[in-house]
This record gives sequence, C-alpha cells and structure tokens, in this order.
Amino acid sequence: MPQAGRPIENDSSQNMHKPVLLHESINALDLKSGEIFLDATYGGGGHSKEVRRRFPTVKVIAIDQDPKVDVTRANFRDLDKVVTQKVDAILFDLGISTDQLERSGRGFSFLRDEPLDMRMSNTGIRAADILNSWDEHAIELILRGFGEERLSGKIARAIVEQRKVKPFQTTFDLVRVVETVKHRSFRDKIHPATKTFQALRIATNEELSSLEVGLEKGFEALGHQGRLVVISFHSLEDRIVKNFFREKIKEKSARQITKKPITASEEETMNNPRSRSAKLRVIEKI
Ligand SMILES: C[S@@+](CC[C@H](N)C(=O)[O-])C[C@H]1O[C@@H](n2cnc3c(N)ncnc32)[C@H](O)[C@@H]1O
Repeated sequence: MPQAGRPIENDSSQNMHKPVLLHESINALDLKSGEIFLDATYGGGGHSKEVRRRFPTVKVIAIDQDPKVDVTRANFRDLDKVVTQKVDAILFDLGISTDQLERSGRGFSFLRDEPLDMRMSNTGIRAADILNSWDEHAIELILRGFGEERLSGKIARAIVEQRKVKPFQTTFDLVRVVETVKHRSFRDKIHPATKTFQALRIATNEELSSLEVGLEKGFEALGHQGRLVVISFHSLEDRIVKNFFREKIKEKSARQITKKPITASEEETMNNPRSRSAKLRVIEKI
C-alpha cells in the first residue's frame, strides 16, 4: 500500500501553502483511532500533518499528481489503481497549492512571466499547446465554460490572431492579448486575465472530468460509515460535488452531513485570502 512519503517538511519558508478550513475538514473526517485516512490531494501536506498530529494511530495514505510532491504520484481519477483497500475517510482539497502558483515556474500565475505550461502533472498537453493549436471555437468554449468569461468570443479571436504572428510561449504573451480585449480599470476587483487563466488551467488538467471520476472512485473506496470530505474553490467544482452528493443521498448510499456548505470564518479569510471562495461539503457512506 502506498504511503505518504517524507511527511513533515520545514514550515518556516515564506508564503507556504496555508491549509484551508483545516479544523473544519479534519473534524468532518470523523476519524477514530487506528482508522485509515486517504489524502487525495496531498499538496504541501497541511491536512495530512494535522491528521497525524491529532490522530497518531491513524494510517495516512496520500497521493498527488504533481511529481514535485513527495508522495505516491497519481491522479485521483486513477485512485482505484493505487488504493486497493477500503479506507475510513477521504479528503479532496481541490485546485492548486500556493507552492504551485508561486514557485513551480509552470505558468499558473498571470503575475509572473513563465513558460505557459500549467500542468500539475508532467504529462499531457500544455496550456500553450491549447492556445497554439485548438480552433477558435474550442478556445471560446473553454473560456466560457471553464472561466465563465463574458468576453470569451473576443478573447478567443484575439488569441487566434496573435498566434499567426508568434506562437504563445509565456504567461505574459497571454496576459498581453487578454488586455487588448479587457482593459484594466481601477474599479476591477480582479485582474483581467483571471478568468482566462482559470479556464486554461482547468482545460489543461482536465480538472472537471477528473473530479467526476475521482469522486466516484473515492466513494467506492470508502468503507461503511466512511466520510467523503471535499473542499472546492469555484462554482464549477462545487456544482459537481453538490450533484454527486445529491445523487448518492437520493439512492440511499450516503447520508448528508453538511446541509449547507461550510465556509471560512472571517478570521481565516483575513489571514488567508485563498479561503474566501472555499466550500466544504461532507457525506457519509451508508
Ligand atoms: C489545494 S492543494 C492541496 C493542499 C493540501 N491540502 C495542503 O494543505 O497542503 C491541491 C493539490 O491537489 C493536487 N491535485 C489537483 N488535482 C489532482 C488530481 N486530479 N489528482 C491528484 N492530485 C491532484 C495538486 O497537485 C495540489 O498539490
């Protein structure tokens, strides 16, 4: 059985990933002594470390698709291949970590000029390949569908025009094109490229289809009264989680633990802006 690799890293480096809804999610796992916990998105290991601290007898299994993360490397859509025994609780803490955003050099942030890769794993198509080779309509669809970008048509058009001049290579190549369509205004709360970057990251990593498959396989891996705990960060993810939970409750294979999603306290949102959009949902297998 794969185990979390070297677990506790030095927490003193600056701007480390801060685990979101830490106590709320660990409480929701409802772990008891000697049980097995699967962390499906280990990242910086914040949640796993807290589980180990609070429940020293719990066995922690951890996976992550990022090869830089020192645990069993797997996409949770392939969870059935790496986790072959029943577990008592699973956590999915979705999206990317602060380390990936700020230090991976893989182009997740529109604030840094880096190669436009955006893969959390090191396999599959890069974000730049999508921009340089997909047809205009397909690009428009991902910007609209995964970014809920109102100007998806115009941005897709501008991308296709720009790549005739020079193929996309870096994040700033893309930021410049988005800014020709969406002008920055002091009233804007978010950067003009926010939605485009979100859409492209979701498409590059096939995040939504992985989530659908991963939830199903995670639920399958749970033993009786096992808890499935999911933290999502945007409405597309949350919709998938909500619908999946609703279906399991309707077919009477799960009971609802959180009627409404748990969100971050005011204190947490002040200390960790990333927690602002987080939604925690929980079901229990019956
Ligand atoms: C928000 S971070 C998790 C942070 C972690 N809970 C912590 O406190 O440090 C999400 C992690 O999930 C990983 N991830 C995202 N999608 C994945 C997938 N489909 N399969 C496996 N890992 C995935 C990312 O590589 C990233 O490291």
